[in-house]
Amino acid sequence: MVQSAQLSARRAGFQAALHRWYRAHARQLPWREAPSLYKTVVSEFMLQQTQVATVLPYFARWMRGLPDFAALAAAPELRVLKLWEGLGYYARARNLRRLAQALVGMPAPPRTPAAWRELPGVGPYTAAAITSIAFGEPAACVDGNVVRILARLTGEARVFRDGSAAAKHFTPLAQALLAGSDPGEHNQAMMELGATVCTRQNPKCTECPVAVFCAAKRAGTPGKFPRLQPKQVEQRSVARAWCVHCGRLLLRRGQTKAKRLAGLHELPELADLGVKPAKYSLLAVKRRTITRFQITELIHAVKPRPALWRRIAADESLEWIALGNLEQVTLSGPHRRWVGELLGW
Ligand code: ADE
Repeated sequence: MVQSAQLSARRAGFQAALHRWYRAHARQLPWREAPSLYKTVVSEFMLQQTQVATVLPYFARWMRGLPDFAALAAAPELRVLKLWEGLGYYARARNLRRLAQALVGMPAPPRTPAAWRELPGVGPYTAAAITSIAFGEPAACVDGNVVRILARLTGEARVFRDGSAAAKHFTPLAQALLAGSDPGEHNQAMMELGATVCTRQNPKCTECPVAVFCAAKRAGTPGKFPRLQPKQVEQRSVARAWCVHCGRLLLRRGQTKAKRLAGLHELPELADLGVKPAKYSLLAVKRRTITRFQITELIHAVKPRPALWRRIAADESLEWIALGNLEQVTLSGPHRRWVGELLGW
């Protein structure tokens, strides 16, 4: 009993310090000004796996183009993908549109995390973020930022298999720390602390409002937490074709092979064209990382010979796009960059 009174006093002290700091230091972000359910949902989708600074211009452009759920639900998928172009992880854009279509068919939006998790693209973090911010549901958000804060606060020595195992472990603590507070403010304060003070590298412990509660700060070892097993990285190599003919570039409209890329154009793979890499000159080598894959992209100059013409004619996902029309199609961020570089734009 005494212990639980002490715990709740500590919790109240933690919350008061955190919330006071948040009110004084929160960044002014467009989804925090005159917040609405729509702004909250769009921002939370964009912020999955993406930093605030990257999201800001996309969020502004999106709100101008698709100002509410009804506009989003009615928009063609290609338009939605075009607005998302460059943000990556395009399943988010498709899910967001499907979510809008589901919501406009309901008499009222659901209010609980469990009901939101039934909607496309909504995992535990996003459900907690949306319902706490928009409806004051007492659901704690636990993402990489929050895991880092809680691992440091507690000095948790355990090594976690991955981020989601760590999130699962820390959810009860995150939930306990939120109890009795304004849940939307509390979650956003935790996100803000993780993004701006309790950062992965060089945490600013001298500026931290909850440093007195922190085991890692006391031990002088915040950089040691959280402890996660190193990720297994897999190397892959993809050979692509750079095929320009009569002012047109050969692109492949993603659809069948990778659902992830449906509706997005990309430089075709040599294998899709029945072309062997060794015969053609290598124009560029690009490296990128998607989830746990480190991919080396080898871009080869390819001349359209008769066998290739036949192949292109037979494959309706292969399209010649006039160089002047490249702006109209949706390319993923890296493909747009490579195309720009190879065209000398
Ligand atoms: N990351 C995820 N959700 C966020 C939010 N609402 N504000 C700032 N960063 C976030």
